[in-house]
Amino acid sequence: MGVALALSACGNDDEASDDSGGGGGGSAAEGKVGVILPDTESSVRWETADRPALEAAFKKAGVDAVIQNAEGDAGKMTQIADTMIGDGVTVLAIVNLDSESGAAIQEKAKTAGVATIDYDRLTLGGSAEYYVSFDNTVVGELQGQGLADCLGDKAANIVYLNGSPTDNNATLFAEGAHSVLDEMTNFKVVGEQAVPDWDNEQAATIFQQLYTAADGKVDGVLAANDGLGGAAIGILEGNGLAGKVPVTGQDATVEGLQNVLAGTQCMTVYKSATQEANALAETAIALVNGDEAETTGTTVDSSDDSEVPSILLEPQSITKENVGDVIADGGQKMEDVCSGEYAAMCTEAGIS
Ligand code: BGC
Repeated sequence: MGVALALSACGNDDEASDDSGGGGGGSAAEGKVGVILPDTESSVRWETADRPALEAAFKKAGVDAVIQNAEGDAGKMTQIADTMIGDGVTVLAIVNLDSESGAAIQEKAKTAGVATIDYDRLTLGGSAEYYVSFDNTVVGELQGQGLADCLGDKAANIVYLNGSPTDNNATLFAEGAHSVLDEMTNFKVVGEQAVPDWDNEQAATIFQQLYTAADGKVDGVLAANDGLGGAAIGILEGNGLAGKVPVTGQDATVEGLQNVLAGTQCMTVYKSATQEANALAETAIALVNGDEAETTGTTVDSSDDSEVPSILLEPQSITKENVGDVIADGGQKMEDVCSGEYAAMCTEAGIS
């Protein structure tokens, strides 16, 4: 904390006359922000939702920003970070691929006098000034409650397909889901595994193995995001069980929402990219200006019990009843979700 305070003095020539621009939101800042997204495969959200939301948020704020994607390669993320630091960014925000590489990037940034922000994923043992995300324990709780609601009172065998073991969020999602489902005595965990790098193909293989090991006696699947959920649905489909075994998800992707409409997925979790991107832009501007950012609280870094000042937003549970909320909020476009065979399902769900 507190490293960034001297930064705003390093004059940037290019954006000096910002305040002539049209009003809107916070004062335009002179700094330059670098954002590094993690990959394109673990969730479509990073390129389809986060990138455009971040571009819009920084544009609205009048801040110069560069957004890049590490394509799932921690070495590439390190190189991008080095280049951004070399190019003189004042604030660097990363979605780490694992805490170790993330912490090393933040350490280098700090040495160069560049402030850092953890975007979406907390870097354990890192040195970010702020953490901007959703309340990820609540995300897991919504998934657990969503699955419980879909299963009802009957006895049910549950399989957990968790996110990447290197992603602190995945730990929180699983903890949140367990905190709800473990309380319910009618449910039994018959398989649980983390999916390396959130890889959807590996998720299908892993789910197939868990399904076989449970003799096909699986009644519900706690999948940590829509991609993993989709992988489980594919295997269930092959066994004639799609739509009969509820599956959870997260990210309110087009595919996830379509699966919810079709009834093969029981719920997803919507986390507005616009909200998260705006929170990042505001936090970055505060750092550039040497101000304190507005936070909602702190998050404990479990590696050393330190507390990271945080902006944690509220996730929303989405079932067939409120798929329309995501569209109304601009989280997805109606023409994407309600295309082809889904048009009739959208009409039936009151989306038009
Ligand atoms: C994010 C999820 C995303 C997952 C895979 C998590 O850290 O919070 O929204 O689905 O990573 O990219």
